[in-house]
Amino acid sequence: MKVTNFEDRIHVIDEDSNVTSVIKNIVEPNEQEDAFYVCDVGDMVAKYKTWKTQMPRVEPHYAVKCNDSPIVLSTLASLGLGFDCASKGEISKILKLGVEPSRIIFANPAKPASHIRYANTSDVKMMTFDSASELYKVKKMFPEAKMVLRIRYDAEVAQCRLGVKFGCDPVLEAPHLLQLAHTLGIQVIGISFHVGSGCGDPPVFYKAIGAARKLFDYAEMELGFNMTLLDIGGGYPGDKGTSIDKIAYYVNKGLDDFFEDDTVRVIAEPGRFFVASAYTLVCNVYATRTIGDNQDPNKHTMYFINDGVYGSFNCMLYEDRKVTPQLLKINSTTEYPSSIWGPTCDGMDVIARSIMLPEVNIGDWIVFEDMGAYTLSAASAFNGFPVPKVHLIVDQPTWYFLRDEVCLTNEHFALGNDNIRLGLDDDFSAKPWTYPELPVSMSISRFDISNGEQYQEHVLDYAKP
Ligand SMILES: Cc1ncc(COP(=O)(O)O)c(C=O)c1O
Repeated sequence: MKVTNFEDRIHVIDEDSNVTSVIKNIVEPNEQEDAFYVCDVGDMVAKYKTWKTQMPRVEPHYAVKCNDSPIVLSTLASLGLGFDCASKGEISKILKLGVEPSRIIFANPAKPASHIRYANTSDVKMMTFDSASELYKVKKMFPEAKMVLRIRYDAEVAQCRLGVKFGCDPVLEAPHLLQLAHTLGIQVIGISFHVGSGCGDPPVFYKAIGAARKLFDYAEMELGFNMTLLDIGGGYPGDKGTSIDKIAYYVNKGLDDFFEDDTVRVIAEPGRFFVASAYTLVCNVYATRTIGDNQDPNKHTMYFINDGVYGSFNCMLYEDRKVTPQLLKINSTTEYPSSIWGPTCDGMDVIARSIMLPEVNIGDWIVFEDMGAYTLSAASAFNGFPVPKVHLIVDQPTWYFLRDEVCLTNEHFALGNDNIRLGLDDDFSAKPWTYPELPVSMSISRFDISNGEQYQEHVLDYAKP
């Protein structure tokens, strides 16, 4: 397969460079203020190698919803991953990469009719379901589909609980749905579950695999289905410093104990794991506001940056997500009470409340790591603030690997860091922003109603905030 749809070229960086040096390279000429991402393609390749080592029996089908950027989809397609698509649009994107329909699972248990028809004409046969109504739709629109029953099996700790929306009860509902499928003559090939995104409860995988085994037995022995697929869903962490070791332990143990026979194909739908740490977001501080005076115990400084919860930080609105701001340049050793706000006019557009930060100046840059998952895919340009551009980088060994092993061509790469800043801030004048000369303090006239006299009151220190 030849991948040809990259929007931008991947910059092959030399061995002395890394994400931080690339960020500095971009901001140091002081010629731009737009927020931007740096995406390290090598990080995704490293994740793939980790997955293969940790869970060799499990075929990852990347969850497209997590980050559907061309670079992510193309790289993962080139590495041979399958894909979990939730809609006609996602399926079409993946098919356009040249991925065979058999490598796609349509893993949305509730699908609009036209999307089912599209799956049919595109030959994407594997689809999940968790209700009777879906079976009736499939019977009418895609009777040859290979259905996978999604059961509910929630982790006790998860950043985003998906069981509230999808997955039937494995004991009370699943047998009836299998019976209905049998009566309708619909082929059921397997069981799927999703324990919840950002799972903090690794043993849940073992228990869920055990529950799936029981349904395999019921479907095969009582109804005569040929059950060949186990789909263990998503939920694997992907931030820097996290690991899938524990989850892998429970998954492998579950497969050994309950699915010893390796004729059953085992797939997973990881999203976050593959992309979270590959993306680093860099935002510019373009305004500050100090609340309270020195006597006020709640005095703090608000910093306004040019990306917020309607853009990349949308994940903060719908999942239990905290981000860690890191200053690219440290201006002081002392830290002060601070908060960080996004650029829109909405009061909800806040990224960090009540944090301690060193002194921050207008024009400074704040770096947020681990911003690849559930950020760009749902970001909007609300209030006219653009979604940040992405700079793609790769280290030389990964470049050789991608180029030689997975059929990328030289056209996809640019050597060196020289033009890495291309495409940013077309209309930004190359003048650094500096504070103008300001009065150190200001007084205003007040009127005293008790004696009718005017007096001067000192109100503000206008020295550099
Ligand atoms: C059906 C399905 N599969 C996979 C995923 C990906 O989950 P994660 O990013 O936690 O791996 C999701 C996330 O919402 C999902 O809904």
